[in-house]
Amino acid sequence: MPRELLTVSVGQAGNSISGEFWAQLCAEHGISPDGHLEDYPYAPSSTSLGDSQTPFASTSSLANQSQPFHDRKDVFFYQADDERYIPRAVMIDLEPRVLNRIKSESKYKNLYNPENFYSSPEGGGAGNNFARGHGYGDSTWNEISEMLEREAEGSDSLEGIMLLHSIAGGTGAGLGSYILERLSDVFPKKLIQTNSVFPNADTGNSDLVVQPYNSILTMQRLAEHADSVVVLDNKALSSICQERLHEDQASMVQINQLCSTVMAASSQTLRYPGYMNNDLVSMVASLIPTPRCHFLTTSYTPFMSDKAEQARAVRKTTVLDVMRRLLQPKNRLVSTSFASDAKSNCYISTMNIIQGDDLDPKDVHKSLIRIRERSLAQFIPWGPASIQVALTKPSPYVKARAALRALEANAPPPPPRVSGCMIANHTGIASLFARQLQQFDSLFNRKAFLTEFQRENMFENGLEPLSEARAVVKELIEEYRAAEKISYVDYGAPASLDSDPRQRP
Ligand code: GTP
Ligand code: MG
Repeated sequence: MPRELLTVSVGQAGNSISGEFWAQLCAEHGISPDGHLEDYPYAPSSTSLGDSQTPFASTSSLANQSQPFHDRKDVFFYQADDERYIPRAVMIDLEPRVLNRIKSESKYKNLYNPENFYSSPEGGGAGNNFARGHGYGDSTWNEISEMLEREAEGSDSLEGIMLLHSIAGGTGAGLGSYILERLSDVFPKKLIQTNSVFPNADTGNSDLVVQPYNSILTMQRLAEHADSVVVLDNKALSSICQERLHEDQASMVQINQLCSTVMAASSQTLRYPGYMNNDLVSMVASLIPTPRCHFLTTSYTPFMSDKAEQARAVRKTTVLDVMRRLLQPKNRLVSTSFASDAKSNCYISTMNIIQGDDLDPKDVHKSLIRIRERSLAQFIPWGPASIQVALTKPSPYVKARAALRALEANAPPPPPRVSGCMIANHTGIASLFARQLQQFDSLFNRKAFLTEFQRENMFENGLEPLSEARAVVKELIEEYRAAEKISYVDYGAPASLDSDPRQRP
């Protein structure tokens, strides 16, 4: 079954998160910073749990792994001739700073294939200008596509491509969009997923005054060229770091570690064999029933830091506790007005990945009944109200390292805990898009800060590309709002059978 994924990170945010993500995957799979497999720490106790179906959910158990711990390193890594594990990753930037840090200074500098870094020879970046970043596409595509094709050819059976970038700068947004537009030419049958960082408009960073232009132009490409977009919202990420982790000021490193924790958690069903959603296509198919509503949110609990760890000592994590918390907006990596002021917002689909030792599927069943009885989650009226649940075990490598750290500190071993990640398709995401659009309008209506954009080829015939992108994002917002009503089944239905079938939800 094809399951291998190629990750492509573009620009500062994309590559910085990528560096953290690969460190996290190495830790979970027991791969050393130079790609060697570490000794297996100890044999985990194996509990055989069956698969169970409830009227509200399908539950699969990844917890019945036989010894030794069985994982799929090949989903994200390939093995070199000397058996070292190498990330199937291509890293691209138009300025060298972040890539130099990853390939020359970081602890993981020997992990990557040095041929898979692309830095522009000009080295100046795209200066927060989507049009400039996009404009670099034609001159860089040959070299970039060669790298991508080489990685794809080296895979046994590539399933998809994961793009990692920010939507608000110049390189990740502009060049990232160009790559997205061209990927389907080179890889017509591969699933294209993006992890897209949305900007925090509250930071008041004047350098990024043009962020709304870049964001709307990128969102158009995400809507038109990606199969699935996982939204990582810097506003939610920094408030989680501040409030939940009890930190006064969230650093980018903390934000990126949070992103990588959640990205790793949401890929657990792909990396550990189980009964359900073991490949990206089936996961995306179950989360995205209609093609255009393909923007996903993630939630995670519990968040950890030293201070939070102390506060948590009084709490017992249970499956119900985790499943309930996953539905709370404060644990979501996207800031939207989901619950309070938007009564009509609802889930199109959700999938929970619960991790812990010896989890009992009966607890999942009970939790689902509680969630339903208390109406903790509202679902679309035109589809099934289903929360899919997959159970996973913690990585024995991560557990062994935590136990060792405790031993060295003369502390008791860390108690077992339950953690969870939820991937959801929720109509409330439209409020995040509406916020971007509002900020765009407040600039565009005054035609403010457009001089730098108008110097680029994309705008040589006028500002039409901006109006066009705005229209696409507006339609997307309208579709998410329509999805909250039963009449959505007829949304965009073609007038005749000859019409474009993609217009059907
Ligand atoms: P240029 O530098 O303009 O050529 O493009 P770029 O793609 O390198 O820009 P960058 O990725 O810095 O995009 C700017 C947006 O990303 C802003 O909203 C930043 O707040 C955000 N950002 C920058 N670095 C990081 C990071 O390391 N992590 C996260 N989460 N966001 C970041
Ligand atoms: Mg940059």
